[in-house]
Amino acid sequence: MNTLDIERLLKIGIELSANADSDSLMREIVDVAMDLTNCDGGTLYILENDVLTFHIMVTLSLGIDRGGHGQTIELPPVALKPTNVCARAALDKALINVADVYEDQRFDFSGPRRYDQMTGYRTKSMLVIPMLDDKGDAIGVLQLLNAKDQNGETIAFAQDYEHVIQSLASQAAIRLTNLNYSREITRLLESMVQVLSTAIDARSPYNANHTRNMAGYGKRFLTWLRETNSEHAMTPQEEREFLMAVWLHDVGKLGIALSIMDKSCRIEGFEDAIRQRFLLIELLSEVEWLKGRCTKEAYEKTREDLKEALEAIGNANKAGFLPDDLLQKIEEIASREYVDRDGEVKHWLTNSERETLSIRKGTLTAAERSIMESHVVLTKKMLERISFSKEYSHVTRWASNHHELLDGSGYPQHLTAADLSFQERLLTILDVFDALTANDRPYKKAMPREKALGILRSMASEGKVDGDILELFYQSNAWTEGKE
Ligand SMILES: [Fe+2]
Ligand SMILES: [Fe+2]
Repeated sequence: MNTLDIERLLKIGIELSANADSDSLMREIVDVAMDLTNCDGGTLYILENDVLTFHIMVTLSLGIDRGGHGQTIELPPVALKPTNVCARAALDKALINVADVYEDQRFDFSGPRRYDQMTGYRTKSMLVIPMLDDKGDAIGVLQLLNAKDQNGETIAFAQDYEHVIQSLASQAAIRLTNLNYSREITRLLESMVQVLSTAIDARSPYNANHTRNMAGYGKRFLTWLRETNSEHAMTPQEEREFLMAVWLHDVGKLGIALSIMDKSCRIEGFEDAIRQRFLLIELLSEVEWLKGRCTKEAYEKTREDLKEALEAIGNANKAGFLPDDLLQKIEEIASREYVDRDGEVKHWLTNSERETLSIRKGTLTAAERSIMESHVVLTKKMLERISFSKEYSHVTRWASNHHELLDGSGYPQHLTAADLSFQERLLTILDVFDALTANDRPYKKAMPREKALGILRSMASEGKVDGDILELFYQSNAWTEGKE
C-alpha cells in the first residue's frame, strides 16, 4: 500500500464518520472498497432478523447498479447457512478470500454459477468481509467480486488489502449502528411525544383528535411542498422538527382545568338558580293577584314573560355567537324587577348572570378566557424544561407561538409579522383550521372545510394570518383528508 492509498484511506475514514444517511453510507463503502481493490463487483448485505438482506448491488461490467438510493432490491434474502460464503463470514466474524469460486470446495457456490449461466458473467475471485460493530457483532457483509490487474484481467484479491478492507467495513458498521441508534432514539422520542399529546387531547372529549388532525394536515402539506419543489420545502429533519412542534403545541392544556376546557355553555347548571328565582317571582305575582293587589291579566302576563325569558336565557346560554337581538333580550330581562318576600326590589338576573349570558363569542368569561389562553405560556414553560437536541431547537418557540397573529392581535406576546417564521405562521393556520372544522368543540357545531378556509382567507385579508401560506395549503389539498 502506497502513501497515496493511506491518504485516501484517512480521507475515507473522515467521510464515513461524517455521512449521516445510511443509504449513501452503504453506497460509499461499496464504491470505496471496489475502488481500492480495483474489482468489478460489490454487494452489501445487512443482517436483519437472522437473514442477510441485499442493500447494494453493483457489477460494473454488466452495468448493474441497484440499491443505495432508498429503493429496495427485490431478491430473496440469504439464510444464515454456514455453506453460504457470506453467511459463513457473518457467523465466523471473519474475512474469507476465495481465489476462484469454481475451484473452491469449502462453500456452496451454486448461486454464483446459476447467475453466470443466466448473464454470461464469469465469477472468479471473491473477498467476503463481515461488517463488525463496536461490540464485534456482524451487522452485515460486504462481498467483492473479481479483482482486476492493470490489464483488466481477473485476479485473486491481494492479501495486503484484507486488513484494510476489514477495518474500513467495521468503521462503516459502527457508523451505521450509531445512525441506527440515533434513529431509534428519535423514533422513541416521537412516539412518546405522540402518546403524551394523544393523552392530553383525550382528557377532553371536545378536543379528542385536535393534535393528531393537525399533524395529519401538516405532514401532507410538507410532503406536497417537497414534491412540488416549493421554496418552502424542508429537509426530512426539518419536517420532523416542525411536526414535533405541532404534536407539542397544546401540551400546556395539561394545566388547564377541565371545567374551563369543557365548558359547553355560559352558565353551567343555570337552570337551578334562575329557574328557582323565576318560580318565586311567579308565586309572588300569584299572591299579589290573590290578595287583589293586581289583576289576573297582569299575573298571567308575568307568567308568560317568565316563560319567554327562560327560553331566551336557555338559547343565549348555549349560543356559539350571541346575535344582537338575543343580547338585547338578555339586557331587557335583566333589567326587570320584582319585590322579594322581604320587600326588597331585585332584578330578574344578577349582574354576574347578565354579564356571563352576554358573552358575545364562546362560552368563557373574561377571567376564564385568560386562564384558557394561559395554556400557551404553560406550553412554553413545560417545553423549556426539556433538553431538546440541536435538531429540535426551534420546537419550544414554534409551539409557544401558535396563537400569535401577524397584526399583533394574537397572544400571549402580541408578536407581529416581523417576529413570526414560516413554521409559526403555518402552525397557526393549521390550529385555526382544525379548531374551526372540529365537530367536537363545546360551543359550536363542525364547520365545512371550505367555509373554514373562507374564514381563514378573511383573517388573511385582515392581516392576521399569512395569505400566501394559506393559498399554498389550499392548493396542496392537504386539508381535504381527515386524520393522519
Ligand atoms: Fe392552543
Ligand atoms: Fe391547538
